Amino acid sequence: MSRTFGMIKPDAVERGLTGKILARIEEAGFKIVGLKKMKLSLEDAQKFYAVHSARPFFGELTEFMSRSAIVAVVLEADNAFTKWRDLMGATNPAQADAGTIRKEFALSIGENSVHGSDSEENAAIEIAFFFNQFELV
Ligand code: CDP
Ligand code: MG
Repeated sequence: MSRTFGMIKPDAVERGLTGKILARIEEAGFKIVGLKKMKLSLEDAQKFYAVHSARPFFGELTEFMSRSAIVAVVLEADNAFTKWRDLMGATNPAQADAGTIRKEFALSIGENSVHGSDSEENAAIEIAFFFNQFELV
């Protein structure tokens, strides 16, 4: 078993999709070991997405991620990060496979409803950014 980090992004929380997306996660066989609704400041979003700071979409991305609430989750499964990336679908919903969360719910390449860590190493870093050990059960 391994763990990965995920977020339900502001576009999806705003549209009342939190419950539907959490249901999809559980139906896919993940155990939700951490769960937190919160509002990121612009500075939090800039820190979280620092790896993208030189990209042209950085300003838009960090403003979007800090405009309203997100739901942060820690997901446990066999090969958790790969399994969660597969369930999320491609970054651009136009290229996402049928049956993925982004295909079903994402509005655009920017407002694409969910985040997922892109490696086991980054999963550990991103989990520690949001959760302490007592919040993972
Ligand atoms: O989220 P994912 O790992 O699939 O994609 P990323 O390449 O790590 O980019 C992070 C986020 O930046 C995406 O999920 C989008 O919200 C946003 N983005 C964007 O607005 N425009 C792009 N051309 C690429 C990414
Ligand atoms: Mg990424």
